[in-house]
Amino acid sequence: MRALQFTAYGGPEVLMWGDAPVPDPGPGQIRIAVRAASVNPVDWKVLAGVMSGGQPLAGPGYLGRDAAGVVDQIGEGVTGVFVGDDVFGRGQNTQAEYAVLDSWATKPPSVDWAVAAATGVAGETSERGLRLLGVQAGDTIFVDGGAGGVGAVAVQMAEARGARVIASASQANQDYLREIGAIPVVYGEGVAGRVQAAADGRVDAVFDVAGKTPVQELISLVSEPSQVLSIANFAAGQAGARVTGGGADSRPMEALAEAAELLAQNKLVIKVQTFPFDRAAEAYRISLGGHVRGKVVLIP
Ligand SMILES: NC(=O)c1ccc[n+]([C@@H]2O[C@H](COP(=O)([O-])OP(=O)(O)OC[C@H]3O[C@@H](n4cnc5c(N)ncnc54)[C@H](OP(=O)(O)O)[C@@H]3O)[C@@H](O)[C@H]2O)c1
Repeated sequence: MRALQFTAYGGPEVLMWGDAPVPDPGPGQIRIAVRAASVNPVDWKVLAGVMSGGQPLAGPGYLGRDAAGVVDQIGEGVTGVFVGDDVFGRGQNTQAEYAVLDSWATKPPSVDWAVAAATGVAGETSERGLRLLGVQAGDTIFVDGGAGGVGAVAVQMAEARGARVIASASQANQDYLREIGAIPVVYGEGVAGRVQAAADGRVDAVFDVAGKTPVQELISLVSEPSQVLSIANFAAGQAGARVTGGGADSRPMEALAEAAELLAQNKLVIKVQTFPFDRAAEAYRISLGGHVRGKVVLIP
């Protein structure tokens, strides 16, 4: 098969779309023939070597944390999914013709492959964030960075739970935030004041998906520092906010099932920009730029 790969850490220029061994699913995993795989910021962080813990690269590096495709092999102990099923989910090295998934949900037939692929990481992360913050109907929540991959899904998932959502983006994405049902504010200096004005009352929780606003400013919006949760500013914990990187607090199968349901009901709509795999460098450059609207997705 072919897979996106690199043999030295670097930027998008070191990416190659070349031959690679086909992976086998282990216990509890499935393998899919990939129809689409999204680009997440973690991919260019891995590519740059910042996630390597200082270790040199041992052999080719592969990329991708989510994908959608057709099941072609089932690992030991897996039930409820069959060869030929259309699924999407999270896995490793998904930017390839075949990939192994650890968690998945059935792709609703009405949903495009690229949109389904874009939902894996963003859907799981959003469900985790909203659950840890205890967001429920009637709450007012501020999503800092609402136009990006995780942000746009978090906004719509929170709305589906009956929350009122205020979200930040650049000036260019204010209409996009309105389109997905959020009350838009422009991020940057003074953002807390703009959120307070938009909330006209209390803010119950802050989901920081961008990691750019000083955490004290976000904490000033809520009654308890722990009602601020960040996925992108890991120093925020020192100020009493909470941080999450997944792992033990992740419930991926439940999260993906919830996301699939919202996609099927059109309550979750994700804007995608697609690139063929052999133009992955362009897609990575857009993601690296930090101003993605929705998601960037690779297709074979
Ligand atoms: N901890 C975890 O479990 C976890 C999981 C997934 C992702 N992440 C991390 O979360 C971050 C976001 O991921 P993503 O996939 O959503 O990225 P993305 O798709 O690249 O989106 C980035 C968003 O950040 C917004 N932004 C830029 N500057 C901002 C600022 N000063 N204030 C508020 N928002 C700003 C951009 O809005 P404009 O386009 O309008 O400028 C853009 O929509 C990344 O660092 C990623 O690695 C962590």
